[in-house]
Amino acid sequence: MNMVAWIIQIAMVAMSILIETAEGKKDKALYCSACRAVVDELNYSISQIDPKKTIHVGGFRLNPDGSLTDKKVPLARSEANLSELLEGVCDSMSDHALHVDPDTKKKQYKRFAPRGSDTGDFPDFNHFKFDGPEGSNSLKFACESIVEELEDDILSLFAKETDHVVDKLCNEVSDHCRDATFQSDEL
Ligand SMILES: *[C@@H]1O[C@H](CO)[C@@H](O)[C@H](O)[C@H]1NC(C)=O
Ligand SMILES: *[C@@H]1O[C@H](CO)[C@@H](O)[C@H](O)[C@H]1NC(C)=O
Repeated sequence: MNMVAWIIQIAMVAMSILIETAEGKKDKALYCSACRAVVDELNYSISQIDPKKTIHVGGFRLNPDGSLTDKKVPLARSEANLSELLEGVCDSMSDHALHVDPDTKKKQYKRFAPRGSDTGDFPDFNHFKFDGPEGSNSLKFACESIVEELEDDILSLFAKETDHVVDKLCNEVSDHCRDATFQSDEL
């Protein structure tokens, strides 16, 4: 083996070690925030669709009186519609930014932009960091990796009106928030 080939090989090994450690040390605050944000944004998108709209999913339902009715599910919770919402969910990560609590120093990504009709109180902009590597791009990246990893679980959790979706998705199905420091009472 000549010298150049040897150097290239050493460099490749060193690089793969670097990449592995970067992957192994996922930023918990980032991934937990992204997981929560996915649930929150989907929940909100679903709430914006008229619950009276339903879609036929094929098949029939047997009523207690023996008659048959078409099987219907709310449009917002049909698989087609959920998939569509899921496709766009990471775009809304640009409305979130890293927030550092001035008292507890707790870091988490939060929504800073109010939604359409939402006039609730929004946290002080001073405590948000809007650029740099901790900006919303890294949240979007984490969001995309979570959606890819948990797509089936997300679809089945949201297909029904379930309680504690954040806890189920971010703490049971995955371990993105499974660390006491990132748990909050909202779970
Ligand atoms: C989901 O959205 C509804 C309607 O906007 C809201 O009342 C509810 O608190 C939300 N649930 C969660 C877990 O965010
Ligand atoms: C999902 O629901 C929205 C709101 O009613 C509708 O505009 C959209 O076409 C639906 N998409 C699918 C794939 O069913």
